[in-house]
Formats: sequence, C-alpha cells, structure tokens
Amino acid sequence: MSLTRRRLFQRLATPDYSAQAEWISARGREAGMMEYGEQGMAGATPVRIASNENPLGPGQHVLDAIVGKFPEAHRYPFNAKQTEGALITAIAQKFQAKNENVLLGPGSGEILTHSVRAFTSASKPLVTAWPSFENPRDTAKKIGTPVREVQLDGKLRIDIAKMIEASKGAGLVFFCNPNNPTATVHGKTAVADMVKAIRSASPDTLILIDEAYHDYVTDPSYQSAVDIALSTPNVFVTRTFSKAYGMAGLRAGYAIGHAPTIKAIQAFKMPYGLGTLTLGGAIAGWANQGHIDNERKRNTEVKAFTVKAFADMGISGTDSQTNFLFMDIKRPAAGFRDACRAQGVLVGRDFPPYEKTHCRISIGTMAEMQKAVEVFKKVLGTTTTTSSKDGQ
Ligand SMILES: Cc1ncc(COP(=O)(O)O)c(C=O)c1O
Repeated sequence: MSLTRRRLFQRLATPDYSAQAEWISARGREAGMMEYGEQGMAGATPVRIASNENPLGPGQHVLDAIVGKFPEAHRYPFNAKQTEGALITAIAQKFQAKNENVLLGPGSGEILTHSVRAFTSASKPLVTAWPSFENPRDTAKKIGTPVREVQLDGKLRIDIAKMIEASKGAGLVFFCNPNNPTATVHGKTAVADMVKAIRSASPDTLILIDEAYHDYVTDPSYQSAVDIALSTPNVFVTRTFSKAYGMAGLRAGYAIGHAPTIKAIQAFKMPYGLGTLTLGGAIAGWANQGHIDNERKRNTEVKAFTVKAFADMGISGTDSQTNFLFMDIKRPAAGFRDACRAQGVLVGRDFPPYEKTHCRISIGTMAEMQKAVEVFKKVLGTTTTTSSKDGQ
C-alpha cells in the first residue's frame, strides 16, 4: 500500500515514536554496507556499534519538531519559518557570541574539509595527531597539502609537545579533543597552554579544536575551548549534532570562532546546505540541554558496564571520554571484527598503527551492550592474541 502524504504525517505524528526510533535514526546502514558488504548486513538486525552513533536517535522533542516541518518540505530552506539564521542565532546566544562567529555545515565533517581547503596549501602543511579523525588528513592529501602526522604518546594520548613542534609554518593544526579513535581527552589548561605555544611559535597558523564528542566528556579537568576560540584570533572549534543529539542522519554541525576565520571557511560552503527538517530538529535539540545531560548519563552508565565486562576478561583500554571505547584486545582487530560480525555484532574498522592490537567499539544501548559482551566473551576466548608492541 502506498504511503500517502496524509498517512505519512499520521504515522509520524503518533505520540510514541519509540518503535520508530530505529527507523528514523537509520543507524548507519550505509556505513555498515560500505564496511561489511550486503552479506554482513543481511539477516537479523545486527548490533551496530561501529560508527559512534547515539543508539537512541533524536529525542521526542526533536522528532516532534521535524514532523512539524513537513508542511514546509516543498519550500527551499531560505523560505522556511526557521532558516539557518535561526539556528545560528540560537548557537551564538548560548555562547554570548555574535552570529558572525558561527558557521553551520551539513555535519561538522564538511566544515573540517572546508577548513583544510581554506587554510592549507602545498606550502602550508596540515598538522594532525595520528591516528585521529581522518577527514582533515584525507582532504589535505586530495588537494596536495603536505601532512605532518604526529604520533600519539605511550598512553595513546595526543602528544601536545610534538604538535607544538610540528606547528611551525603550518597552515592548520587539527586537534581532536576528545580524540577519535582513541577516546582520550586533554584538560582545559593543557589546551590553553598549547594554543598559546602554537600562537607564539607560528602566529599565522590556524588551530582547529574538534569537539564532536564534547557532550560525552565526564573528566572534570576538561572544558570546552569555545571561550578560547572567541577570545583568540586564528582558533576555532567545531561541534556536531551527530553524536549526543542523535542526529547523524540529519546532518548538522557548526564552527565557532572569530569572524574572519568563519568567513574564510564560509567561502567554500554550499548555500542552504541544511534542510528545513534538519534545521527544525537541531533548533529543538539545541534548546533542550537536559536531554543531552541525560544522554551523557546514559552513555556513562552503559560504558561503565562494558568496561567492567572487558576488565573481567582481562582486557583494558584507554580512559574513554566519548561514546566509544578503544580496547587493547591483544589481537588483530580484523579477526575479532569478522568473528563478532558472524554473531551479529558490528564493531569498528582498523586504525593503523594499532590495528594489530586495538579495536574501537561504540557504546550502544544497555541491551545491545549486554548482547555484545556475550559475543565478545565467546570471540575473545577463541581468537589468537598478538603482543601489544606488534601493532604500534
Ligand atoms: C572527531 C570527529 N569529528 C567530526 C566528525 C564528523 O561528524 P559529522 O560530520 O557527522 O558532524 C566525526 C564523526 O564521526 C568525528 O568523530
């Protein structure tokens, strides 16, 4: 039976979305297809803990706002009741900034890409920790920008001293805090000191602080660098609605910094890149900090359960300040991943140079992690181990 416009609205307007949450949040099927192929995604719904998504999707208030936007779906976003300007204003107000300090993107990933285009070139390298979120490095390689990869320290943390050293003459320093895939975070003082040192060693270098996982951090030494970005030229922060806000499929992210920096990135931006439904959802999500606080609490509880289950198996990882773990499973991630997939659990891809020892595992719901842990126990009892040193 075809789904008429009226029936679609009726279906979406049902007060209880819980049964539809999985459908609406579309948890990474495409990513899974790319990573695991049709076969891996077939059959019973797998536990998808590979892409650092929020397993619950957006909150009810966000879904309600999105449904409320359907009557405007035939209009361009610039003709909608709430345009990009409404979300920009909401974000700017929260940080006591001006609208000129905020840039929106269809996901923060696109802002990262445009930042590399705006601030690097063949003669202005990109500095990034490695491994870290790949987007800036991959963009740099595509456009012929040299990349200075800074290895992590012995505790798999970003090596700030080496980042500062590498920054001299660079176009852009990418600092992912917390870092993906290692889940580690640096405290406020360390970040402020690093910014000062880079600004003194290389005043023209832009510093991008990626806070995609900001909402999940519980380490008390951590604080957002947004105030640094607003008070210091050449420093900017990116954030996303894809993680704690549960909107990865809707595509919204933002950057915040000084107006000239924002303007330089904006030059690459596609106009009206965020759809009307996305804008409505993001505005509603932004207004409800309580929901995000609850999501942090939920993630922290499920993460603690999962970390304890691994500890009981003699396995540990980094101190995760995110919605994923980076565990030293003491064997190649590929074999572990294949064995888990065969039992309906999809875990993260390889992260060289740690792919022989470490695996990234996103935090799902408690029920999903209970199921996943049972699979991990079976798999880790059967696959062979490697020495930690082999993978580093
Ligand atoms: C550290 C980091 N930054 C940025 C992104 C991009 O997210 P999005 O484009 O969905 O905002 C991701 C996605 O996983 C990420 O892990």
